[in-house]
Amino acid sequence: MHREDFDNKYRQFVRLVDDALNALVAESDAPQKTVYDAMRYSLLAGGKRFRPVLMLAVCEMLGGKPDDVVPYACAIEMIHTYSLIHDDLPAMDNDDYRRGRLTNHKVYGEAIAILAGDGLLNLAFETMLMHAEHYSSDLKRHVQAMKIIANASGISGMIGGQVVDIEAEGRDISSELLEYLHRHKTGALIKAPVMAAAVLCGADETCVKRLESYAEKIGLAFQIKDDILDVEGTFESLGKSVRKDMQKEKSTFVKLYGLDGAKNKLFSITEEAVNQLAVFGDKADFLSELAYFIAGRQN
Ligand code: IPE
Ligand code: IPE
Ligand code: MG
Ligand code: MG
Ligand code: MG
Repeated sequence: MHREDFDNKYRQFVRLVDDALNALVAESDAPQKTVYDAMRYSLLAGGKRFRPVLMLAVCEMLGGKPDDVVPYACAIEMIHTYSLIHDDLPAMDNDDYRRGRLTNHKVYGEAIAILAGDGLLNLAFETMLMHAEHYSSDLKRHVQAMKIIANASGISGMIGGQVVDIEAEGRDISSELLEYLHRHKTGALIKAPVMAAAVLCGADETCVKRLESYAEKIGLAFQIKDDILDVEGTFESLGKSVRKDMQKEKSTFVKLYGLDGAKNKLFSITEEAVNQLAVFGDKADFLSELAYFIAGRQN
């Protein structure tokens, strides 16, 4: 797939999601207006929209319609954004910039930032439930998709990984625990849109297995690249502070394997991810490019 075709398609998917997100978190004049403003501040600040794009791409490859998955794609982006707002809090990573702006708590204060995160998490589930309500004949698939997303966001998914991340600060951990950390704090919310799309679009068992393996690999690759960018990236392109991991004594792939070691892991796991897509033929071209996009990204 040509780079230009990939970029155009990526942008097309982003537009779909951005329009839907903008409508889902409307401005408000209610007494709790501040929390709406704070939610919009972080959610509509840009960001790559990688997870919703991934979900729309899987849906398209499996022959589904975008409308079937857009509410889920938005829900995942809301959950991801909430995780970033909380991740940046002084009690966690204590970061001042995110998506090219001051972090939520720097603008709205810690109390509202916590509540804005909570608000996004709840709105995510409300969004999915409202959508599922319309599919009485197909309700089981929708419940399964929500279960996948709930599980990936919770203590056996993203939150679990964040706990391990925080507890691993200032410690040397095994390569197994480091991989566990990355697969959970970041991998879980990348695998969830793939698996939820597979369920919603009725993929068969072989397809589900291959997609699951692809998703697990790109999920790990995504966080390895995040670790690399903390060392090699710039504030201008990332929109967040750099060289924070060493300062906070975080357990990262760079810390355990060195920069070259982390890059080698990233490249080999990217190839493995792309290999999982062979069964889909050229229908998987965009998903293959998406795997390479992770390794090459500068933001
Ligand atoms: C950053 O996620 C935090 C991680 C889980 C690595 P992204 O790199 O997807 O951030 P945005 O959404 O583009 O801002
Ligand atoms: C964040 O990982 C993962 C989640 C928010 C779940 P990081 O702490 O490495 O992400 P950045 O570097 O702040 O974006
Ligand atoms: Mg963190
Ligand atoms: Mg962080
Ligand atoms: Mg990071």
